[in-house]
Amino acid sequence: MRLDVVTIFPGYLAPLEQSLIGQARRGGLLDIRIHDLRDHAHDRHRTVDDTPYGGGAGMVMKPEPWAESLDAIRRSGPAGAVPHLMIPSPAGVPFTEAMARSLAGEPWLAFACGRYEGIDERVYDHARERMPVTLVSLGDYVINGGEAAVLVIVEAVARLLPGVIGNADSLVEESHEDGLLEYPVYTKPAVWHDGGVPREVPSVLLSGDHAAIAAWRLGQRRARTAARRPDLLHPSLATTGLGDLLVSPATPADVPELLVLTRACWLPEAERAGTTALPPLRESVASLASSLEQWHTYAVRSGGRLVASVRGRVRPGDETAWETGRLIVAPDLEGRGLGRDLLAFAESLAPERVTSFWLDTATLTPRHQRILRKAGYRVVRGGADETAGPRSEIVSAVKRRP
Ligand SMILES: C[S@@+](CC[C@H](N)C(=O)[O-])C[C@H]1O[C@@H](n2cnc3c(N)ncnc32)[C@H](O)[C@@H]1O
Repeated sequence: MRLDVVTIFPGYLAPLEQSLIGQARRGGLLDIRIHDLRDHAHDRHRTVDDTPYGGGAGMVMKPEPWAESLDAIRRSGPAGAVPHLMIPSPAGVPFTEAMARSLAGEPWLAFACGRYEGIDERVYDHARERMPVTLVSLGDYVINGGEAAVLVIVEAVARLLPGVIGNADSLVEESHEDGLLEYPVYTKPAVWHDGGVPREVPSVLLSGDHAAIAAWRLGQRRARTAARRPDLLHPSLATTGLGDLLVSPATPADVPELLVLTRACWLPEAERAGTTALPPLRESVASLASSLEQWHTYAVRSGGRLVASVRGRVRPGDETAWETGRLIVAPDLEGRGLGRDLLAFAESLAPERVTSFWLDTATLTPRHQRILRKAGYRVVRGGADETAGPRSEIVSAVKRRP
């Protein structure tokens, strides 16, 4: 990757000789070229700034040296190639890991480091007519110049390039990689005596149980993100029960999303059952839309996102039986009691004359069985053998109306 940086303080970029970035430069992975803007100022004092039109404090960077410098950089590249120009600015779009990932896929970036009150606005137009331009902000504060921003951006982008970081695995599960902050990390010793109460590494990390460690880490990531950066979490992840959610009768407008959630939730069922011939997976937009006329289907939303659904109806041919079906909860919200609350909600829809509640399911895992048992149901057809694993035929669970 080639990087050109234009600045009036070339020495400020010296850290780009250090550490992994320095190694990547020496190894030929990064071609970083630093340019002194003053080389394009042709008066005796190599002036790059002047007073602002309209008055006001401070100085503004003159357009001519910038245009000359950017044009020289553009001409120095291969025929037809242009760099993507990044202009650090507190008025730019916030720099994020997602932007770093996208920039890491580009062959050539250039950076224009502003100073004083910034760069004459016409330079942006000049540049935009010649190359893609992005104004990028480090955050909602003002620093003295764009150089520190360039150091940050180059660090974030370069470490994503293949070969820059020795162990590419260390890029996985980092903060912001998938919208969550990283879990806490520990190294030896397992118990650290620093004079007070011995400080121990969480025992799960010493257990060797990789599934338990992964579950603990995910829990820590979510808790940490909720505590420190709730703005990063989708509101649905703060959900504690139906009370937090918008539960409304599903309409044809809900059907496309409902179909997606249905498929996502039933795929694991299909894997357990060893067949994809389960009715929920055979559903189409049209069939699901027409089912809304035969079932009372409810869509459960949080922050606009469809997170769960359930449907129920009086059983055809038996006015005293109520059947509940298609109880689905988004995978990331499982284990919060949402399914249990939705089941109770679906039962509450049954008319007075109903005396029994039914629930058909394609596969009955021990977990499903436990949930149903807790809700007062008993399996009447088929059923799961806890030791042999789930069975794939349709089974029914029933309970009498209390
Ligand atoms: C003192 S600042 C100019 C601020 C400008 N007058 C304004 O209010 O938008 C000088 C330079 O520092 C850089 N800079 C300042 N804050 C920044 C931020 N939050 N993110 C990126 N660059 C910043 C920009 O290159 C800017 O041109």
